[in-house]
Amino acid sequence: MNFNVAVIPGDGIGPEIVSEAKKVLDTVGKKFGHEFTYTNVLMGGVSIDAHGVPLTDEALETAKNSDAVLLGAVGGRVGVDKWYELPPNLRPEAGLLAIRKGLGLFANLRPAYLYKELKSACPLKEEVADAGFDMIIVRELTGGLYFGERKTEVVDGVRTAIDTLKYDENEIRRIAVKAFEIAMKRNKKVISVDKANVLDSSRLWSQVVSEVAKDFPEVTVENMLVDNCAMQLVKNPAQFDVVLTENMFGDILSDEASMITGSIGMLSSASLGAGKLGLYEPSHGAAPDIAGQNKANPIATVLSAAMMLRYSFDLDKEADAVEAAVRKVLEDGIRTVDIMSEGKTLVTCTGMGDAICERI
Ligand code: IPM
Ligand code: MG
Repeated sequence: MNFNVAVIPGDGIGPEIVSEAKKVLDTVGKKFGHEFTYTNVLMGGVSIDAHGVPLTDEALETAKNSDAVLLGAVGGRVGVDKWYELPPNLRPEAGLLAIRKGLGLFANLRPAYLYKELKSACPLKEEVADAGFDMIIVRELTGGLYFGERKTEVVDGVRTAIDTLKYDENEIRRIAVKAFEIAMKRNKKVISVDKANVLDSSRLWSQVVSEVAKDFPEVTVENMLVDNCAMQLVKNPAQFDVVLTENMFGDILSDEASMITGSIGMLSSASLGAGKLGLYEPSHGAAPDIAGQNKANPIATVLSAAMMLRYSFDLDKEADAVEAAVRKVLEDGIRTVDIMSEGKTLVTCTGMGDAICERI
């Protein structure tokens, strides 16, 4: 089959890691008889440099007309890169928010899994790491504080900033349904994370989640306060299967979850909407400090490409092959610098991409 992939290399290490993911897709294509056609799209700092805005309407249109979008990372260094002298709505990250909203990608899936080979890189106590964990964070992506009304003004001589956290029941219902559907394919356990002891939006969140739960009688559901969840993630991560939460909580908890996998360079993500079109990107950022040095870990991006095969193209067998190749690479002791430990073989970003391709 033929698939059109809009590719957004972006900033920092984005172009390096995206090249490796494309290499992996092409290897899959050769082996399983598919063709991936890539259209390059500018977003983030590189788009600001070329067009003065982080995402042009044409770029968004190209993404809309594709079968899936593969993204590296966007952004630079505040205080260093001139992009951050621009107003917030013209900075690199605004491009990311605009494409999520523009494509209607309300569901962000971030799987966090501890490979047994990377146990020594896990910063948790040995007995906790030994128990392992395998969870997926289902983060709402187009609502809440990220998209609520905001302003900064002077009120009675005092500088005042306002952000708004708003959710309606439809926004909550559709992400909850996604989480329960995913739970049905996993261990049938949803933990819905909120701050219902303080926030109205969280109280509505938990009400709607319990209504949705009625349609999934096989799934057990539990509510957890976000502060407790932050603690439980480092105390007993094995208890989590599907973590369902709103945009801002999901942003924070997914960084925490990625850290306990050993390296933020391992965490993939898929952003999905109502249809098949999805955006696939590593959960980490553009890492400008190591950009252009061929030492970034491309695994999160490669695993994101595997999610693309699974969720946008329904190519489960092919996705399995990529995930198995990544596992094999780790078993074979091949490591980029972020996950390197004694006695293992250190490779570059391209070296890691090649090693994965060889094992597909
Ligand atoms: C993420 C990132 C983004 C977010 C930033 C870059 C806007 O942290 O994808 O988790 O907060 O969603
Ligand atoms: Mg984040």
